[in-house]
Amino acid sequence: MKHRKKSREAGTQRSVETRYEASREELLRSLMNLDRRAFLRASGAAAAAALTHGVAHAHTFQPVTVAGASAVQPFRFAYISDSHLYERKLNDRFIRSLLRAVDDVNALDPQPDFVLYGGDLAQLGQPAELDLGAQILKELKAPVRMMVGEHDWYLDLGEKWRALFGKDVYSFDHKGIHFVVLNSVVEEDFWSARKLSPMERMKTVAGLDNRSQSNFQVGGPQREWLEKDLQGLSNDVPLIVFSHSPLYHLYQGWNFWTIDAPEVQRILSRFQRVTVIHGHTHQLLTNRIGNIHFHGMLSTAWPWPYAPQGLPELTIQMNRPNPFNPQDGCGDGEVRVYADGLVDKVYGLWNRSPVTVSREYMRSNGLLQRPPASNVSTY
Ligand SMILES: [Fe+2]
Ligand SMILES: [Fe+2]
Repeated sequence: MKHRKKSREAGTQRSVETRYEASREELLRSLMNLDRRAFLRASGAAAAAALTHGVAHAHTFQPVTVAGASAVQPFRFAYISDSHLYERKLNDRFIRSLLRAVDDVNALDPQPDFVLYGGDLAQLGQPAELDLGAQILKELKAPVRMMVGEHDWYLDLGEKWRALFGKDVYSFDHKGIHFVVLNSVVEEDFWSARKLSPMERMKTVAGLDNRSQSNFQVGGPQREWLEKDLQGLSNDVPLIVFSHSPLYHLYQGWNFWTIDAPEVQRILSRFQRVTVIHGHTHQLLTNRIGNIHFHGMLSTAWPWPYAPQGLPELTIQMNRPNPFNPQDGCGDGEVRVYADGLVDKVYGLWNRSPVTVSREYMRSNGLLQRPPASNVSTY
């Protein structure tokens, strides 16, 4: 009797953290079990919690077009990228990592204006992987802008991804910035002549250093679209471009490379302030070519090592990850947009201090506000 009373007391005194952990476990269980009803119950509880805090937004994967204004009003957006989700029955490690990123972003106060998802949501482009990712991203309180990566695309050439998230190439205006989202992982057909099955094609592209595929490119039709999209804009409108692969030539051996990047840069070069935010490289990566500032995004799944050659001069390497901690070297982050249209790029490295690559560092070509060097010799 005494014992029962005690446990009831313990139940009423569960801390916020304990209740949070319990609800997260329930969500994870429902994701793992394909139990849609339980998933909706858990999601509903999260949405209700968000409502009580007055932070609920109508959720959408579609861009919201806001009429362009000449002056930039400062704001920030968050990013999550490269989660590489496997089907839930195979692996839950990357699911947990993506949930951690969702928690990070949902904890931002005030909330970011939107969240950029940087591509490679799935590992092998399978409908179950993409569905799982879409379900998890719906947990975000802020609206989500989606970008595609090669791991999402090459099983069915984007059919499932587009059904879930809409267009892979689009632009929108937000608080005085013109945003462009590209699909930079277009490849020339290397599969038909070799009679590859969709899964063989997918696995070929998924092999980072598999040179039996074509190169990533934005491609002629998309470059034409981009030129038209930018046509009416004067040179002093700040641009922020999202691409999955880096929009410059970094290291071809690992496909850290977009073959027609110089042509895309040429289209962007008339603008005074251009920032390109890219995924795919899973690391802290900084570059500047003319007026174009490039920033890589962290992955939630794993960090890639740095390319053996061609590292841009402005890049301050992040620490080498601890091999005993699977989430080390991973993370998410935010982008702070200032009134001058330039950005501070924040790398929210899990379990470590965040690293900010400031606009002053970029503007001064590395002379000012150099981010602190990390201890790359560790591990
Ligand atoms: Fe990736
Ligand atoms: Fe990728």
